[in-house]
Amino acid sequence: MPNPKTAPASYTQFCSSCHGPEGRDFVGRTWKLGSTPEDIERVIREGYELLGMPAYGDVMDDEAVAELTAYVLDRAASERSFKPEAPAVTVTDDLTVRANVLVDGLETPWGMDFLNDTTLLITEREGRIWHCEAGRMTEVTGGPTDIHVRGQGGLLDVMHWEDPERGTEWVYLTYSKDEPGNDKRSATALVRAEWRADTKALGPLEELFVALPYEGTHHHYGSRVGIGGDGKLYLTCGERGKRDVHPQTLTTSPGKVHRFNMDGSVPADNPYVGQDGAVPSIWSWGHRNPQGMFVHPQTGQVWTHEHGPKGGDEINVVQPGRNYGWPVITFGKNYTGTIITRDTAMAGMEQPLHYWLPSIGACGFETIHGGPWPAAWQGDLLAGSLSFEYLERLHLEEGRVAKRDRLLEGVGRVRDIARNPSGDVFVAVEGAGKIFHLVPASH
Ligand code: HEC
Repeated sequence: MPNPKTAPASYTQFCSSCHGPEGRDFVGRTWKLGSTPEDIERVIREGYELLGMPAYGDVMDDEAVAELTAYVLDRAASERSFKPEAPAVTVTDDLTVRANVLVDGLETPWGMDFLNDTTLLITEREGRIWHCEAGRMTEVTGGPTDIHVRGQGGLLDVMHWEDPERGTEWVYLTYSKDEPGNDKRSATALVRAEWRADTKALGPLEELFVALPYEGTHHHYGSRVGIGGDGKLYLTCGERGKRDVHPQTLTTSPGKVHRFNMDGSVPADNPYVGQDGAVPSIWSWGHRNPQGMFVHPQTGQVWTHEHGPKGGDEINVVQPGRNYGWPVITFGKNYTGTIITRDTAMAGMEQPLHYWLPSIGACGFETIHGGPWPAAWQGDLLAGSLSFEYLERLHLEEGRVAKRDRLLEGVGRVRDIARNPSGDVFVAVEGAGKIFHLVPASH
């Protein structure tokens, strides 16, 4: 039981300014960081910088922390509807991973990017952009208004970039854009705007690229953006469900990875610059629907994954001028089970680094680098699964996938994964509308 003398007093002294008088904030609470006494003691001792919760371990002894914990739980239980929520915990062979809720109440979070360790931008497919600073959410104004929010379309990825020479901050966005004058057709588009940190607004939008032609389908837009080790901007574009039209020609933009200078111009050393009829921004081709990309922190190479049809989601490290084969070679079949092709390899076409059979519905891609992760996890890959609703860890040995683990089983459709500059990992889940912070615990 809480010490009736000291706990309320120290609560008033230390906690009530943020959590309200007499623990009001905890009554009937849905816990973000876990509901057991151990969870709460840890939060009080260590704080939670990402959400703006201070650490009290230096100013309180264990007994005082335990008393406050009992007080907080007592307040929480004072509501009849109170049901403690177990924290989502995954135990693997070598690690226990907890998933704390950083943000909830979103509709379809699609993209995330960190400005610093505790501040990130979030897109929702429905068209909203959020600035989240230590748990505080502010809606960002000035996003695109011609978004085709249908099927798989909507506002898609987001990236923040500070120009090291000028100091200007930019926000890049990808989305499915309505064809001007005909909102039945759409194309993947890339825009940017100056980031106005003081007002949390975007400056005027600059259109950098539209993956023409516009199509009447509402799926396979891609799209992820990132900055390669070479300082260039990479953009993935899906083939818009037109597998016999786009992936195997250099004359259209869908079904490709594109490479730009940061201002949207085309680098002179792109592989097809000057080739007759070729779209000059093409970096690699023969892609289906790439919805995962990260830039390797050590090599600077661009890693992507893409959805296969029934089977054949694949991971590629995309190289200039290479053809990744869709739909001429694939490890997948048609959704109906019929054969697309028996060919899984062909001269002039690349083999994936890994393929998934069955498809996991891969979305969101990251690698573990630094941060709170143990040595055995460093360099491993994380891929979201839309179909099976979990987060997959792919353990690499000598550049090959040696082992796969299912994390956060049943969490919901994992849409995106992001790493902050310190190496913490975050996972956005559709439906639940949540962003989780993954915290490795002892094992
Ligand atoms: C400066 C404001 C501030 C102060 C002071 C503060 N907290 Fe918090 N605390 C937060 C924020 C913000 C969160 C994040 C949860 C949220 O978004 O509501 C949090 C989270 C928590 C949680 C975890 C809740 C969950 O959902 O898992 C506990 C427990 C907690 N605080 C207890 C305390 C106690 C006990 C004190 C006093 C010793 C205290 N806090 C002081 C801001 C504060």
